Amino acid sequence: MKALYPGSFDPVTNGHLDVIKRIAKLYDEIIIAVLLNKSKEEFIPLQDRLKLIKESVEGIKNVSIETFSGLTVEYAKSKRANVIIRGLRAPSDFEYELEMSQINYFLSDGLETVFIMTNPKYSFIRSSRVKEVASLGGNVKELVPAPVYKYLYQKMGLNNL
Ligand code: PNS
Repeated sequence: MKALYPGSFDPVTNGHLDVIKRIAKLYDEIIIAVLLNKSKEEFIPLQDRLKLIKESVEGIKNVSIETFSGLTVEYAKSKRANVIIRGLRAPSDFEYELEMSQINYFLSDGLETVFIMTNPKYSFIRSSRVKEVASLGGNVKELVPAPVYKYLYQKMGLNNL
């Protein structure tokens, strides 16, 4: 079975990585699908984001990283993915994710979304919070994979290494 894990990954966090490690045990093949979103302002340029994901998932053999634009379900179909994966951190995520899974189910004629509950250790981590904390000089070392932390340190000049 092939699973598509779509997202912005701007940047990839320890929460994402935990989901990736767990789904890599459940499915034969994982495609991490990074959305090329022209309307959403990016914090980390796409090429750097891809490199950081690649470095963060090193050693997980059944994972590949791709980019996509347009509808997730169309991309999933083109890749012959059997399921879409989304992580749920808290009940507040549920409403948005429920709606998205339902529209995706409708649009795709039955492609299932499978939800993974975030490890409570990471349930407060979201990329936007990482960006804000990092931009203001806070320490995000425990929140992101080491390559991301290093990148943020070099880019933002954090002094908490
Ligand atoms: O990491 P994110 O930002 O929470 O990921 C959101 C993402 C990329 C999964 C979602 O915005 C998405 O699927 N965008 C592609 C367009 C689409 O298919 N939208 C859902 C149906 S309207």
